[in-house]
Amino acid sequence: MQILKMGQVGGGIGAFIGEVHRKAARMDGGIRLTAGAFDVNPQNSLKQGKILGVDKKRVYKTYTEMIEKELALPVEERIDFVAVCTPNHTHFPIAKAFLEAGFNVMCEKPMTLTVEEAEELKIISKASKKIFGLMHNYTAYPMVKLAKDMIKQGDLGKIRKIVVQYPQGWLYQNIEKTGQMQASWRTDPKTSGAAGCMGDIGTHAANLAEYITGLKMTQVLSDLTAFVKGRKLDDDGNVLLRFTKGAKGILHASQISVGEENNLAIWIYGEEKGIHWHQEHPNYLHVISQTAPEQIWKRGNPYVAEKSEAAARCTRIPNGHPEAFLEAFANNYCNFADTIRAKNERRKATDLEKDFPGIEAGVRGMKFIRAVVDSSKNGNVWTKI
Ligand code: NAI
Repeated sequence: MQILKMGQVGGGIGAFIGEVHRKAARMDGGIRLTAGAFDVNPQNSLKQGKILGVDKKRVYKTYTEMIEKELALPVEERIDFVAVCTPNHTHFPIAKAFLEAGFNVMCEKPMTLTVEEAEELKIISKASKKIFGLMHNYTAYPMVKLAKDMIKQGDLGKIRKIVVQYPQGWLYQNIEKTGQMQASWRTDPKTSGAAGCMGDIGTHAANLAEYITGLKMTQVLSDLTAFVKGRKLDDDGNVLLRFTKGAKGILHASQISVGEENNLAIWIYGEEKGIHWHQEHPNYLHVISQTAPEQIWKRGNPYVAEKSEAAARCTRIPNGHPEAFLEAFANNYCNFADTIRAKNERRKATDLEKDFPGIEAGVRGMKFIRAVVDSSKNGNVWTKI
């Protein structure tokens, strides 16, 4: 296996998701952190590089310096891809610059700040012929892949209704006022985008619903609220959904649902059967029907592998030993890295290798944000995605 060299932008000291990317990327031994511009403050980037044990010649003060100096290295020494783990407003310029310089990109969500940027990035990505991954980690759990395969194989019958929720409680008070880093940029339209909660976690819920069912949202009717006084962006939202093929649904996401942790969950009802999956108990998939007792499918068992190759491929340890958040990120990295390797080997990547979210999911996410914001602003009206 070719070991890929990873560069990272973001993930400085005290940052949240950058460390998750580093741990997940190296989980399977096929990726090595080689370079980085880790922090918006150049001095802190150097400090973080030292802590991480990255060769000091490959720790950069800015991402532009990183591009320039990596390009000056012989091709075989350069990073193979960059992971963009910075706040939302910086995704577009950073991803654009790396793609245009000829690097593969793994980018955090939401992909950009606006739909226009997303569409431009799609054109840039296609022209670059580089691999682009988007970190919608929740679609990378084995039991989510099993759910997708069950629906694809017709086990539920035609899908009628999708209910997806993503309540959190951590923004129930104005903690951005205290300077809390993650809250500060997420509640500022300049750095977060047109939506707060809906961009931050509503997009994960929307992506999960589309990924599992294979349906696309066509219209939304939303009611967004900023409950916390002085907050400019939504911290809660309730949305009615219309999908292709006549399915309907409900999505609610919230960051003021006091007491909730990371309670992403989905219920899908077909003409024959239903399923539900809960991110806080991710190793189990429930199958329900009117005519038989509930079934609970458990990750790591041979019957899961028989039903879903994609789930089997994303399973590392035996049943009963929980796999969760870090492994899901690693699953996206695994498929992303294998797709890069396939290209390097001049062979076509398989469908299993290509099973990770990319530029299309990013554009869909941005269109979802625009539609829910417009629907709410225009008096809660049906709005096309
Ligand atoms: P954070 O505020 O904890 O960390 C951001 C880091 O980026 C900091 O180290 C900051 O110094 C650095 N940074 C900012 N601008 C930079 C620049 N120009 N060059 C180099 N470094 C720069 O933010 P957090 O929570 O880690 O979120 C980062 C991104 O990840 C966001 O887009 C967020 O939506 C996404 N995210 C995704 C999650 C998922 O489940 N997929 C979960 C949490 C965050």
